[in-house]
Amino acid sequence: MAHRCMIVGCGGISPAWLKPLSAMDDVELIGMVDLDRTVAEGRAAEYAPGAAIYTDLSAALAELSPDVVFDCTVPSAHAKIDVQALEAGCHVMCEKPLADTMEAARCVVAAARSTGRTHAVMQNRRYLPDIRRFRRLIADGSIGRPTMLTADFFIGAHFGGFRAEMDHVLLLDMAIHTFDAARMILDARPVSASCTEWNPHGSWYTHGAAAVALFKMDNGARFSYRGSWCAEGMNTSWESAWRIVGDGGSATWDGGAQIAGEAAGSGDTLIRAGIPIEPPASVELELTGHAGCIRGFLDSLGTGKAPETASHDNIASLAMCLAAVESAETGRTIAIDLEAV
Ligand SMILES: NC(=O)c1ccc[n+]([C@@H]2O[C@H](COP(=O)([O-])OP(=O)(O)OC[C@H]3O[C@@H](n4cnc5c(N)ncnc54)[C@H](O)[C@@H]3O)[C@@H](O)[C@H]2O)c1
Repeated sequence: MAHRCMIVGCGGISPAWLKPLSAMDDVELIGMVDLDRTVAEGRAAEYAPGAAIYTDLSAALAELSPDVVFDCTVPSAHAKIDVQALEAGCHVMCEKPLADTMEAARCVVAAARSTGRTHAVMQNRRYLPDIRRFRRLIADGSIGRPTMLTADFFIGAHFGGFRAEMDHVLLLDMAIHTFDAARMILDARPVSASCTEWNPHGSWYTHGAAAVALFKMDNGARFSYRGSWCAEGMNTSWESAWRIVGDGGSATWDGGAQIAGEAAGSGDTLIRAGIPIEPPASVELELTGHAGCIRGFLDSLGTGKAPETASHDNIASLAMCLAAVESAETGRTIAIDLEAV
């Protein structure tokens, strides 16, 4: 039986959802909600001509009774919309970030738990074949136990729009992808964060276009992040450039197809030559990016198994962003407490 789905928020990112959703056999797009009716009508005309259009979520939930709600609104609206949809009996998947505060995020996780519905977050960058290959190299034990992970993100992105004037633009709008990737690569949760953030000379943003952050993880590893959204020239990939050090070797990933590794060598020399590690073969994903993440969520429904980006786990990625911001603002190292989640 098809999932009766409704999308809330039909702005810039919504085609990345609507395109794959409209191609899925087990999805019926029954409604579209946006504060701006013409925006919702435009998306419906392109992707789901039969969908009912609403500007009011309560009316849409009451009249359509969807099984699934996809929330593509702005971060400050996520928690309220998602709690309302969960309480109306819907499973919900929302765009990153889960919420704009930890308190709001905890409310969403609690609502999913109390209603017995699934809530998950879009982390499309997990659904790329190369991050899965890199993760496999580490999970295989090829470099031993991870002790240190680094990510470099240097891109000169001239967006304009809301990002030009957003506070903490790099940490709040982009870094969650990289921090979530770090959790995936290390298979670990954050314990503390320290961060410095600034808006470099020449930046075309008004706040926080560059940051350097250090996280302690619960497996003892440290994760360091260096990022700039106003770095011209020598850009990294959007997935960042990575290095991981384990107690039995090291590996690098350029964020694209280039993965290399060396296991620890032996002998009595000062520097021991590493032994090349064959990178894992390509990982076949039937669907990638947004499509893959949505498919994983839909396939989890009714199985009793949480999707990979379930909010009770994904809240740890949000916690890294918000702790980094707090550290940058206070100059202190911030403890990250995920016990109560
Ligand atoms: N995963 C990714 O790679 C990726 C990329 C870009 C944006 N995003 C995320 O997607 C979300 C939306 O970003 P965007 O660029 O599409 O923003 P946008 O401003 O283009 O669109 C947001 C839409 O939501 C509507 N809206 C706002 N509040 C609403 C409410 N309470 N009820 C109904 N509709 C409401 C607005 O009218 C607007 O049409 C953000 O959370 C952003 O971080 C994710």
